[in-house]
Amino acid sequence: MAEPRYETIRSETADGVATITLDRPDVLNAMNDAMRRELTRCFADLSGDDDVRVVVVTGAGERAFSAGADIREFVEPLVPVRFREQRRRLDFRQVMDRCPQPIIAAIRGYALGGGLELALACDIRIASEDAQLGLTEVNLAIIPGGGGTQRLPRLVGRGKALEMILTGARLPAGEALRIGLVERVVPPAEVLPAAMQLARTLADKAPVALRYAKEAVVKGLPLPLADGLRLEGDLSTLLRTTEDRLEGARAFLEKRRPRWQGQ
Ligand code: COA
Repeated sequence: MAEPRYETIRSETADGVATITLDRPDVLNAMNDAMRRELTRCFADLSGDDDVRVVVVTGAGERAFSAGADIREFVEPLVPVRFREQRRRLDFRQVMDRCPQPIIAAIRGYALGGGLELALACDIRIASEDAQLGLTEVNLAIIPGGGGTQRLPRLVGRGKALEMILTGARLPAGEALRIGLVERVVPPAEVLPAAMQLARTLADKAPVALRYAKEAVVKGLPLPLADGLRLEGDLSTLLRTTEDRLEGARAFLEKRRPRWQGQ
């Protein structure tokens, strides 16, 4: 099937892995309105595509994942009507939250403001040794509006998140790794290969198990422990009814690779 056409991003799917590339390298992949709309559409399409097992998000060029919101759009005053429209509109990060597939961020260079918020909405983050990450909005007299004030403290804790958000400072990759903001740091040229290798590893797993594993963790996190355990119990019981569970056990006993049916 032909890949959908976009102006500000690229989306390619091969062997169960969809790669979304933010594609405005001249402005360090800054996010304009068109990119936000295209990301929303793209994630909505991929979410409903059973052939897509894993999504990788990356930035074009070597300098940036994304330098955040396109600041050139800031010089137009935001009239109240447009503001209300924006609040009603489904945001790509909300679509990502409902995305059943694991999403991996491959971060080279800068991930600032909305760029870091996009990475925070991903499930696993791999960064280059020269990456710099920050919620820099306060330097422009605004605050993170794409989930940053909520997702960052959940990941790195209240104190570190407030330090980052209030100072607007950029953290080097090593520090980001130390505080749990990224899961892995690798040399720049290895960021995308490492993300693709991880994606392929995940894409090889039984599809329904992969989805339910993500659902159990993501939906369980905000719940009280007892409710989270109940959710886990329900999902794991459901998985015991699949053909793939039998296939997994048989393949193990017969010492061969499993052939997943996705049911
Ligand atoms: N919006 C629009 N354009 C941006 C941008 C953004 N967020 N970030 C970078 N650019 C553009 C620059 O204007 C420049 O364009 P030009 O070549 O037409 O002048 C180009 O990208 C390269 O950036 P430049 O600033 O020259 O590179 P640098 O190496 O000196 O600095 C950064 C890199 C990322 C430190 C710097 O660009 C920066 O601070 N950007 C803004 C980051 C930010 O505050 N994001 C949050 C927005 S809420």
